[in-house]
Amino acid sequence: MTERGCVIAIDGPAGAGKSTVAKHLAKHFGFLNLETGAMYRAFALKALEQCVDADDAAALEGLASETSITLEASEGGNRVLLDGVEVTKRIRDAAVTQAASRVSVHPPIRKWMVGLQRSLGRGRRVVMEGRDIGTVVFPDADLKFFLDASPEARSQRRFEQVGRSNGSGGRPVRAAVARELRERDERDRNRADSPLKAAADAIVIDSTEMNLDELLIFIEDQVRAHLSLPVVSEEI
Ligand code: DC
Repeated sequence: MTERGCVIAIDGPAGAGKSTVAKHLAKHFGFLNLETGAMYRAFALKALEQCVDADDAAALEGLASETSITLEASEGGNRVLLDGVEVTKRIRDAAVTQAASRVSVHPPIRKWMVGLQRSLGRGRRVVMEGRDIGTVVFPDADLKFFLDASPEARSQRRFEQVGRSNGSGGRPVRAAVARELRERDERDRNRADSPLKAAADAIVIDSTEMNLDELLIFIEDQVRAHLSLPVVSEEI
Protein backbone atom coordinates (compact mmCIF):
# COMPACT_ATOMS: atom_id res chain seq x y z
CA MET A 1 0.00 0.00 0.00
CA THR A 2 1.29 3.48 -0.83
CA GLU A 3 0.89 6.94 0.71
CA ARG A 4 -1.77 7.68 -1.86
CA GLY A 5 -4.04 5.26 -0.02
CA CYS A 6 -5.52 2.10 -1.41
CA VAL A 7 -8.42 1.70 -3.81
CA ILE A 8 -10.36 -1.51 -4.35
CA ALA A 9 -12.66 -1.04 -7.36
CA ILE A 10 -15.82 -3.09 -7.74
CA ASP A 11 -17.74 -2.75 -10.98
CA GLY A 12 -20.57 -4.68 -12.53
CA PRO A 13 -24.23 -4.59 -13.50
CA ALA A 14 -27.16 -4.15 -11.12
CA GLY A 15 -27.93 -7.13 -8.91
CA ALA A 16 -24.50 -8.75 -9.24
CA GLY A 17 -23.79 -8.34 -5.50
CA LYS A 18 -21.49 -5.30 -5.65
CA SER A 19 -23.01 -3.46 -2.68
CA THR A 20 -22.94 -6.49 -0.40
CA VAL A 21 -19.38 -7.33 -1.35
CA ALA A 22 -18.21 -3.72 -1.04
CA LYS A 23 -19.81 -3.30 2.38
CA HIS A 24 -18.27 -6.54 3.59
CA LEU A 25 -14.76 -5.82 2.31
CA ALA A 26 -14.85 -2.31 3.75
CA LYS A 27 -15.78 -3.65 7.18
CA HIS A 28 -13.37 -6.58 7.04
CA PHE A 29 -10.35 -4.48 6.11
CA GLY A 30 -11.35 -1.19 7.74
CA PHE A 31 -11.84 0.74 4.50
CA LEU A 32 -14.35 3.42 3.56
CA ASN A 33 -17.13 2.15 1.34
CA LEU A 34 -18.18 4.58 -1.37
CA GLU A 35 -21.17 3.68 -3.51
CA THR A 36 -21.00 5.83 -6.62
CA GLY A 37 -24.43 4.74 -7.95
CA ALA A 38 -25.93 6.60 -5.00
CA MET A 39 -24.44 9.83 -6.35
CA TYR A 40 -26.06 9.37 -9.79
CA ARG A 41 -29.28 8.50 -7.99
CA ALA A 42 -29.18 11.66 -5.86
CA PHE A 43 -28.67 13.80 -8.94
CA ALA A 44 -31.50 11.97 -10.75
CA LEU A 45 -33.78 12.65 -7.79
CA LYS A 46 -33.07 16.35 -8.05
CA ALA A 47 -33.69 16.31 -11.82
CA LEU A 48 -37.03 14.55 -11.26
CA GLU A 49 -38.05 16.98 -8.54
CA GLN A 50 -37.16 19.98 -10.66
CA CYS A 51 -38.81 18.48 -13.76
CA VAL A 52 -35.57 18.56 -15.74
CA ASP A 53 -35.75 16.13 -18.67
CA ALA A 54 -33.29 13.23 -18.27
CA ASP A 55 -32.47 13.50 -22.01
CA ASP A 56 -31.69 17.24 -21.92
CA ALA A 57 -27.90 17.29 -21.48
CA ALA A 58 -27.61 21.10 -21.38
CA ALA A 59 -30.33 21.53 -18.76
CA LEU A 60 -28.80 18.73 -16.67
CA GLU A 61 -25.39 20.37 -16.88
CA GLY A 62 -26.92 23.62 -15.62
CA LEU A 63 -28.57 21.76 -12.78
CA ALA A 64 -25.30 20.00 -11.89
CA SER A 65 -23.56 23.36 -11.55
CA GLU A 66 -25.87 24.22 -8.67
CA THR A 67 -25.91 20.82 -6.99
CA SER A 68 -23.83 19.44 -4.15
CA ILE A 69 -23.70 15.70 -3.52
CA THR A 70 -21.84 14.07 -0.65
CA LEU A 71 -21.45 10.49 0.51
CA GLU A 72 -20.79 9.87 4.17
CA ALA A 73 -19.66 6.38 5.08
CA SER A 74 -21.52 5.16 8.17
CA GLU A 75 -22.00 1.81 9.94
CA GLY A 76 -25.16 0.87 8.05
CA GLY A 77 -23.91 2.01 4.63
CA ASN A 78 -23.56 5.34 2.87
CA ARG A 79 -25.55 8.39 3.94
CA VAL A 80 -26.29 10.41 0.86
CA LEU A 81 -26.64 14.18 1.10
CA LEU A 82 -28.17 16.19 -1.72
CA ASP A 83 -27.63 19.92 -1.24
CA GLY A 84 -27.08 19.19 2.44
CA VAL A 85 -30.31 17.21 2.90
CA GLU A 86 -30.26 13.47 3.54
CA VAL A 87 -31.88 11.50 0.68
CA THR A 88 -30.50 8.02 1.49
CA LYS A 89 -33.88 6.28 1.37
CA ARG A 90 -35.60 8.32 -1.32
CA ILE A 91 -32.99 7.52 -3.96
CA ARG A 92 -34.07 3.84 -3.96
CA ASP A 93 -37.44 4.54 -5.66
CA ALA A 94 -37.99 2.73 -8.97
CA ALA A 95 -38.45 6.05 -10.79
CA VAL A 96 -35.15 7.36 -9.42
CA THR A 97 -33.41 4.10 -10.36
CA GLN A 98 -34.36 4.44 -14.02
CA ALA A 99 -33.65 8.18 -14.05
CA ALA A 100 -30.16 7.54 -12.61
CA SER A 101 -29.34 5.29 -15.52
CA ARG A 102 -30.66 7.91 -17.97
CA VAL A 103 -28.88 10.98 -16.55
CA SER A 104 -25.63 9.01 -16.33
CA VAL A 105 -25.27 8.69 -20.12
CA HIS A 106 -24.38 12.38 -20.55
CA PRO A 107 -20.64 13.11 -20.73
CA PRO A 108 -20.75 16.44 -18.76
CA ILE A 109 -22.58 14.70 -15.93
CA ARG A 110 -20.09 11.83 -15.92
CA LYS A 111 -17.16 14.25 -15.94
CA TRP A 112 -18.57 16.09 -12.93
CA MET A 113 -19.27 12.84 -11.05
CA VAL A 114 -15.85 11.37 -11.81
CA GLY A 115 -14.23 14.53 -10.39
CA LEU A 116 -16.30 14.26 -7.22
CA GLN A 117 -15.58 10.55 -6.87
CA ARG A 118 -11.84 11.02 -7.31
CA SER A 119 -11.80 13.72 -4.66
CA LEU A 120 -13.75 11.48 -2.26
CA GLY A 121 -11.42 8.52 -2.80
CA ARG A 122 -8.00 10.03 -3.36
CA GLY A 123 -5.39 9.31 -0.69
CA ARG A 124 -7.80 7.17 1.33
CA ARG A 125 -8.42 3.50 1.84
CA VAL A 126 -11.63 2.92 -0.06
CA VAL A 127 -13.74 0.23 -1.59
CA MET A 128 -15.43 2.10 -4.42
CA GLU A 129 -18.33 0.51 -6.21
CA GLY A 130 -19.96 1.44 -9.52
CA ARG A 131 -19.80 0.87 -13.27
CA ASP A 132 -16.60 2.68 -14.34
CA ILE A 133 -14.38 2.71 -11.26
CA GLY A 134 -11.68 0.40 -12.63
CA THR A 135 -11.88 1.80 -16.18
CA VAL A 136 -12.25 5.57 -15.62
CA VAL A 137 -12.43 6.84 -12.04
CA PHE A 138 -9.40 4.96 -10.69
CA PRO A 139 -7.75 3.15 -13.62
CA ASP A 140 -4.71 2.68 -11.36
CA ALA A 141 -6.74 1.12 -8.51
CA ASP A 142 -4.76 -1.32 -6.38
CA LEU A 143 -7.21 -4.11 -7.09
CA LYS A 144 -10.21 -4.38 -9.43
CA PHE A 145 -13.14 -6.73 -9.45
CA PHE A 146 -15.83 -7.06 -12.09
CA LEU A 147 -18.81 -8.87 -10.60
CA ASP A 148 -21.35 -10.42 -12.90
CA ALA A 149 -24.17 -12.98 -12.80
CA SER A 150 -26.83 -14.17 -15.22
CA PRO A 151 -29.72 -11.74 -15.84
CA GLU A 152 -32.10 -14.25 -14.22
CA ALA A 153 -30.02 -14.53 -11.04
CA ARG A 154 -29.58 -10.76 -10.84
CA SER A 155 -33.23 -9.98 -11.30
CA GLN A 156 -34.19 -12.58 -8.69
CA ARG A 157 -31.79 -10.99 -6.18
CA ARG A 158 -33.04 -7.51 -7.02
CA PHE A 159 -36.63 -8.68 -6.65
CA GLU A 160 -35.93 -10.03 -3.17
CA GLN A 161 -34.00 -6.90 -2.18
CA VAL A 162 -36.60 -4.41 -3.41
CA GLY A 163 -39.39 -6.47 -1.82
CA ARG A 164 -37.61 -6.39 1.54
CA SER A 165 -36.95 -2.68 1.48
CA ASN A 166 -40.53 -1.90 0.38
CA GLY A 167 -42.08 -3.94 3.17
CA SER A 168 -44.96 -6.26 2.41
CA GLY A 169 -47.28 -3.45 1.20
CA GLY A 170 -45.46 -2.39 -1.95
CA ARG A 171 -44.23 -5.73 -3.27
CA PRO A 172 -42.92 -5.24 -6.76
CA VAL A 173 -44.09 -7.38 -9.62
CA ARG A 174 -41.36 -9.85 -10.60
CA ALA A 175 -41.73 -9.17 -14.32
CA ALA A 176 -41.43 -5.41 -13.78
CA VAL A 177 -38.19 -5.84 -11.84
CA ALA A 178 -36.77 -8.04 -14.62
CA ARG A 179 -37.78 -5.54 -17.30
CA GLU A 180 -36.31 -2.55 -15.45
CA LEU A 181 -33.06 -4.41 -14.91
CA ARG A 182 -32.87 -5.32 -18.61
CA GLU A 183 -33.46 -1.71 -19.65
CA ARG A 184 -30.78 -0.43 -17.32
CA ASP A 185 -28.32 -3.12 -18.39
CA GLU A 186 -28.87 -2.20 -22.01
CA ARG A 187 -28.37 1.53 -21.38
CA ASP A 188 -25.43 1.17 -18.97
CA ARG A 189 -23.55 -1.23 -21.26
CA ASN A 190 -24.16 0.59 -24.53
CA ARG A 191 -23.75 4.27 -23.71
CA ALA A 192 -20.96 5.96 -25.64
CA ASP A 193 -19.18 7.48 -22.63
CA SER A 194 -17.55 4.98 -20.25
CA PRO A 195 -19.96 2.08 -20.74
CA LEU A 196 -20.12 -0.69 -18.19
CA LYS A 197 -17.33 -3.13 -18.97
CA ALA A 198 -14.59 -4.98 -17.18
CA ALA A 199 -11.18 -3.30 -17.03
CA ALA A 200 -8.53 -5.40 -18.79
CA ASP A 201 -6.82 -6.03 -15.44
CA ALA A 202 -9.98 -6.73 -13.41
CA ILE A 203 -10.65 -10.05 -11.72
CA VAL A 204 -13.91 -11.12 -13.34
CA ILE A 205 -16.27 -13.15 -11.16
CA ASP A 206 -19.50 -14.76 -12.28
CA SER A 207 -21.51 -15.32 -9.10
CA THR A 208 -24.55 -16.99 -10.73
CA GLU A 209 -23.87 -20.31 -9.05
CA MET A 210 -22.43 -18.94 -5.80
CA ASN A 211 -24.25 -18.22 -2.58
CA LEU A 212 -23.40 -15.08 -0.69
CA ASP A 213 -20.98 -16.66 1.78
CA GLU A 214 -19.05 -18.38 -1.03
CA LEU A 215 -18.79 -15.11 -2.90
CA LEU A 216 -17.58 -13.15 0.13
CA ILE A 217 -14.99 -15.76 1.06
CA PHE A 218 -13.74 -15.98 -2.52
CA ILE A 219 -13.34 -12.21 -2.76
CA GLU A 220 -11.70 -11.90 0.64
CA ASP A 221 -9.17 -14.54 -0.45
CA GLN A 222 -8.46 -12.61 -3.63
CA VAL A 223 -7.85 -9.42 -1.65
CA ARG A 224 -5.50 -11.25 0.71
CA ALA A 225 -3.64 -12.82 -2.22
CA HIS A 226 -3.06 -9.48 -3.93
CA LEU A 227 -2.75 -6.91 -1.13
CA SER A 228 -1.27 -7.37 2.31
CA LEU A 229 -3.97 -5.84 4.46
CA PRO A 230 -4.62 -6.37 8.15
CA VAL A 231 -8.08 -7.69 8.99
CA VAL A 232 -10.06 -5.45 11.36
CA SER A 233 -13.37 -7.38 11.59
CA GLU A 234 -14.01 -11.10 11.11
CA GLU A 235 -17.80 -10.76 10.95
CA ILE A 236 -19.60 -11.84 7.80
O1 DC B 1 -25.33 1.05 -8.75
P1 DC B 1 -26.70 1.65 -8.91
O2 DC B 1 -27.70 0.62 -9.38
O3 DC B 1 -27.15 2.38 -7.69
O4 DC B 1 -26.54 2.76 -10.09
C1 DC B 1 -27.63 3.52 -10.58
C2 DC B 1 -27.30 3.98 -12.00
O5 DC B 1 -26.24 4.92 -11.96
C3 DC B 1 -26.83 2.89 -12.96
O6 DC B 1 -27.91 2.29 -13.65
C4 DC B 1 -25.88 3.59 -13.88
C5 DC B 1 -25.37 4.77 -13.08
N1 DC B 1 -23.99 4.60 -12.61
C6 DC B 1 -22.99 4.91 -13.49
O7 DC B 1 -23.26 5.23 -14.64
N2 DC B 1 -21.69 4.87 -13.07
C7 DC B 1 -21.37 4.51 -11.82
N3 DC B 1 -20.08 4.49 -11.45
C8 DC B 1 -22.39 4.16 -10.92
C9 DC B 1 -23.71 4.19 -11.35
